[in-house]
Parts: sequence; C-alpha cells; structure tokens
Amino acid sequence: MISASSFDAVTDLFHDVSGIRLTPAKRPLVAGRLQKLASARGLASLDDYITRLLAGEFPDELVHVVDSLTTNETYFFREPQHFTHLAGVLRSTSVSSEPFRVWSAASSSGEEAYSIAMVLAEHRGLQGWEVIGTDLSTAMVARARQGLYPLERARDTAPALLKRWCLKGQGRYDGQLLVCKELRERVRFGNANLTRDLPDIGQFDVIFLRNVLIYFDPAGKVDIVRRVLTRLKPGGFLYSGHAESIAHIGLPIQSVASAVYVASAHG
Ligand SMILES: C[S@@+](CC[C@H](N)C(=O)[O-])C[C@H]1O[C@@H](n2cnc3c(N)ncnc32)[C@H](O)[C@@H]1O
Repeated sequence: MISASSFDAVTDLFHDVSGIRLTPAKRPLVAGRLQKLASARGLASLDDYITRLLAGEFPDELVHVVDSLTTNETYFFREPQHFTHLAGVLRSTSVSSEPFRVWSAASSSGEEAYSIAMVLAEHRGLQGWEVIGTDLSTAMVARARQGLYPLERARDTAPALLKRWCLKGQGRYDGQLLVCKELRERVRFGNANLTRDLPDIGQFDVIFLRNVLIYFDPAGKVDIVRRVLTRLKPGGFLYSGHAESIAHIGLPIQSVASAVYVASAHG
C-alpha cells in the first residue's frame, strides 16, 4: 500500500527527473514496483521507504527508482514498417564518405538499435554507418550493451537475419540469443534524458523516437520533438510510434508516410 501523499511525493520526484507524469491510475503499479526496492532495504512500509528516500537517506537510490518506474517494453523489429522504410532509404541513398547515422532515441534494452544495425549491415556491410542508442534508464543501457535477450523478443525477426547476426544460446543460455560481436561492437549505448540538454552525439540521417512520447503531456511532447529535431540532418527522417501522431503538434515537420516525418522546408 502507498498513501496518497507518498504517491504524490514520489511521482513529483519522478516527474522532475524524467518529465513523465504518472496519473493516479498508476498508483497500484507504482506501489508494486517500489515495494521491491523497499524490501531490498529491509523496509516493510513503503511510506517509510519514500519518506527516507525523500530525506536523502539513500544516496544513489534515485537511479533505481527511475529504472523501476519507467516502462521498457520493446522487442526486435517492432512496428516493422519503419525498418522497411529504412531499407528503402538506404537503397535510394548513395554511399558517401560520411557515415550513415541512426539514433534510437529511447532505446530501452536495445532491441530497436540492434534491429536497425541488422538492416544497415544487410545493406551496407559492417562499414560506413553508426547506430547510437540512448535511454533515461541506466539499467536498460547496461542491458542493451550486453545484447543478450530471451528468444521470444525476436519473434518478429526474419529467421535469416537471426541466423546471420545472432547466436542461439545453449546450456545455461538456452532460450536466449546473443547479438553477434560484430554488431555489438558497432552499436553504442549511453544515457540521455530527452527532456534535458542532449549529449553531444552529432547529427543523424534517421531518428527513431518511438513509444516514448505516449508518456508525456502535449507540452512535454512538443518539447522533446523540438529538441530531437535539432539532431536531424536536412532531408533526414524522424520515425514516431504508430500510436503517437506528431503531425499536428505545431512543429515544422511534414508527414511523408505513416509515422514517418521530415523537417519541412519552411520551418
Ligand atoms: C516503451 S520503451 C520504447 C523502446 C523502443 N523505442 C520501442 O519502441 O520499442 C520507452 C523507453 O523510454 C525511456 N524513457 C522514458 N522517459 C525518457 C526520457 N525522459 N528520456 C529518455 N528516455 C526515456 C524509458 O526508459 C523506456 O526505456
């Protein structure tokens, strides 16, 4: 159980850090997730844990609170139209001396970034491109770097791609897959909070900003999309989740296909 005042206090804290406002409907979920952290500290009372957290008794705990309150659901080749679109972009873009750069801007545990890398490797081989994955959650960034996943996360992946770019676990890794070393070495992961100044990661030909805007109110969405657009190269493509239309949020972008945008010339 979590009292209304503890819920408000902890969700205010989470909002300050992540920009995400958790509604009262999320109270049971918040209680369930934070109870685990409280128990790990030997505290039976969640309210006691939150009071002590807010009093600064648990240094370094905030990162775990944020990790446990973010929703990280993802899998390989989720919303496959974007990967088909990306393949089309690669076919119609001539290879240049500049690397083709793609950003997975809320990469969670990394499946999206590795799916992008598979498409790039299929079209360009292992040179001439870069993929960067960033996320708010430190735990997710660490998991992404490992590249080890339950096999069922690859349920929408073409068997030929799995065979070429992943290793099937055996023995104690039975039921898991490991993204092959060549791809793991080519995909970089780091922390970035989309509601704050972005780290210095350069400009991108394609940006995946998918299934993260749903957690923000309209003003928060605009703020994030505006910031992310500063990292899109002229003529580059921005992909949003199919449930997160950004066509009419008052920013200088133009929809060119379902959940695919370009910066408009008159921006
Ligand atoms: C549902 S996952 C989306 C993963 C992937 N893009 C996809 O479409 O499958 C949402 C991710 O957004 C991250 N996130 C939430 N707020 C964020 C913020 N302010 N900055 C960066 N990432 C954030 C969460 O940690 C989580 O990993």
